Amino acid sequence: MAQELALFGGPKAVTRTDELGAAGGRAFTDEDKAAVLEVLDWPNMYASNPQFEEEFQEFIGTEFVLGTNNGTSAIHSAYFAVGVQPGDEVIISSHTWHLQVSQILALHGIPVFCDVDPRDACIDPEDIKRNISDRTRAIAVVHPYGAIAPMDEIMAIAREHDLAVVEDCSHAHGATYKGRKVGTIGDVGCFSLQGSKLMIGIEAGVMVTDNEEYYERAIVLGHYGRIAQLKSAKYLKYNDPDQAEQAPTCFGFKYRMNPMAAALATAQLRNLPEQNKIRRDNALYLTEKIAEMGGDMLRPPYERPDTERTWLNFICHYFEDATGVPRERYIEAVCAEGLHVTGGRAGYLPIYWNPLYEERADMWGPGYPFDAPAVTNKVTYERGMCPEAERIWKRGINVPVLHNECSQELRDEIVEALVKPLRNIDALK
Ligand SMILES: Cc1ncc(COP(=O)(O)O)c(C=O)c1O
Repeated sequence: MAQELALFGGPKAVTRTDELGAAGGRAFTDEDKAAVLEVLDWPNMYASNPQFEEEFQEFIGTEFVLGTNNGTSAIHSAYFAVGVQPGDEVIISSHTWHLQVSQILALHGIPVFCDVDPRDACIDPEDIKRNISDRTRAIAVVHPYGAIAPMDEIMAIAREHDLAVVEDCSHAHGATYKGRKVGTIGDVGCFSLQGSKLMIGIEAGVMVTDNEEYYERAIVLGHYGRIAQLKSAKYLKYNDPDQAEQAPTCFGFKYRMNPMAAALATAQLRNLPEQNKIRRDNALYLTEKIAEMGGDMLRPPYERPDTERTWLNFICHYFEDATGVPRERYIEAVCAEGLHVTGGRAGYLPIYWNPLYEERADMWGPGYPFDAPAVTNKVTYERGMCPEAERIWKRGINVPVLHNECSQELRDEIVEALVKPLRNIDALK
């Protein structure tokens, strides 16, 4: 294969540009489109909501499934469900999407950030242990980009200290850990079904649990219309159909999924296993080749033993110390080869690198939430506190995910676009 870098006028490694576009593209199927339109003709325009929940329940296997209007509201519901109260601490990864964190603040809880495993950005169980205090109420786990967190270790810590575990599976629809679907291992699982996810409702989410109390608490938080169907008198009383002289109420949020989103998500769910399989096949091929050829300069995404991860993103790790070339220069060279890569996934910096945390902002009123009367431990957020998370985002090379079947030749061209600049690294200096 040609050695001269495309950056300097050599031939591009990727010649199958149209095929690359098609393999990386996401398009709604005719079934997806028909499912959305059907909602408009149904006598009960909300019928797709229970249908989605039934099918997702069949897929995930938990006793309770609750569709929500987005992943953020599923997460808020989960924290509320497990009883996060003002001043309670929730241990959470510092490498996640910020909304997983801010929902703790929404309940006047206090996020306590943990460092990550440098191989895959999953939360580090040893750091969880170090961060447990007398106020810890829950552990929030994310499976970043589809890489699966070490759930056995996390659950063992949680059980020892009587903590709830809330899994955020927004990147891991259908992924498994030791043969069990993620989202069913913690006490509550949450999924975003937003437009960039592996299974799309455009704006939608879902919360799953085997715990009836948690399910009922999530209902009273955001689904007033369903309170009347609850078993427990404790919650049913807020919207009791037998009480003629009672105004209905809920606890302030309306989190029902849009029925068109439910219909779309149901159609997408039916395709998910097949789509995951195609993405996996492509990703494992690239992973193997990059591991062979990247040496100590470029490492492919990591898959832990005993897990079958998903591939929402394909983020390699680039080691500037080994190449002597800044990541941005390497990215420039790969892009010139015809493969559009970026530096990791936008927004995945250590979450506490924001004035909200660093300045312990009192957006909820003077002293609230970080110094509210209910807070008994002063939690502060300083740069340097999660060193791996502060390093890992600087190494990311975000390679397009191949969502669709494609030729062996294209996959080889992609590998070549990534490794050719490494073979010619001195030319980039
Ligand atoms: C890890 C993670 N958690 C939570 C969310 C929030 O989900 P939504 O955008 O559906 O509210 C996202 C969405 O991007 C996410 O990636």
